[in-house]
Amino acid sequence: MRVEAIVGHSTTRPISWQSLWQRAKGLVARPEPADGICLSRRHELLARLAPIGPLRTDRIELWPSDEALWITHTADFERLLSNSVYDFATDYMPNWAEIWPCGVLLAGVIAQNPEALRGQRVLELGPGVGVTAVAALRAGADLTVADYDMGALALTSLNALDQTGREPRAMHLNWREPSREFLRVAGEGWPLVLGADLLYERKDVRPLLALLERIILPGGELWLGESGREEAQRMVKALRWRKWSGPSEPYTSPLPDPNYGTFDVITVHKLRRPLEQEDGG
Ligand SMILES: C[S@@+](CC[C@H](N)C(=O)[O-])C[C@H]1O[C@@H](n2cnc3c(N)ncnc32)[C@H](O)[C@@H]1O
Repeated sequence: MRVEAIVGHSTTRPISWQSLWQRAKGLVARPEPADGICLSRRHELLARLAPIGPLRTDRIELWPSDEALWITHTADFERLLSNSVYDFATDYMPNWAEIWPCGVLLAGVIAQNPEALRGQRVLELGPGVGVTAVAALRAGADLTVADYDMGALALTSLNALDQTGREPRAMHLNWREPSREFLRVAGEGWPLVLGADLLYERKDVRPLLALLERIILPGGELWLGESGREEAQRMVKALRWRKWSGPSEPYTSPLPDPNYGTFDVITVHKLRRPLEQEDGG
């Protein structure tokens, strides 16, 4: 039997009767994984996730849309963090294993406007547990996800399989040193790249900027969710300086921050890379 719970209670936005009813239903039952999925593949993914310890599945509301997803993630993020050793060379911590409000919000923005992704080649950088990726697949994107943690790729694949019956193409990527294989797959670039809560290390700003300029087609877009960290704002400023343009929309966070319990403002930037004649290139 699966352990079920509900998260997603924000005191800072109105809660509709419909959403209360959805939550109440969620307490009773969660849907079975999508019909016809390959159970041996599911077991393979679960075996890869064994090192992070027990998993749990929560119902996550994708505000500002009316949609919701069942997302599997680590049952005890605190324990996982305290059992991990910080790697100073890579700044690695298993941050991918938690549900972050930024990814949920970006998923909600996608669910509200799925047409923008339907039939598009889309890349998500740093998918974490896969909330945004599942929303992108549901919207009909031809999705690739890239992360340096194989656990993030496995959990994203599991959630995608359970919720949509499909998996994204999963690629290993350290954006500080993108591999030849990743750049080969990137080819000319993607028309849309998604990223939620990617920047919390200053030394990631430059390599990510360089990568985005390499892997987003001229005229293509970056949809970036960020919760006000200085590093993320630095990158947005640098992109705007390079004439990337588009709206930056602030939202109240749909979930409390797992570290601090605060409801931050999350901004979704939809930035379009200039065409070559526009940036003088
Ligand atoms: C804070 S988590 C956010 C996850 C997800 N986007 C969300 O909002 O829930 C940051 C993500 O970026 C990935 N990441 C961090 N540094 C990376 C790097 N140098 N190369 C590739 N992925 C990285 C992590 O593994 C993780 O999946």
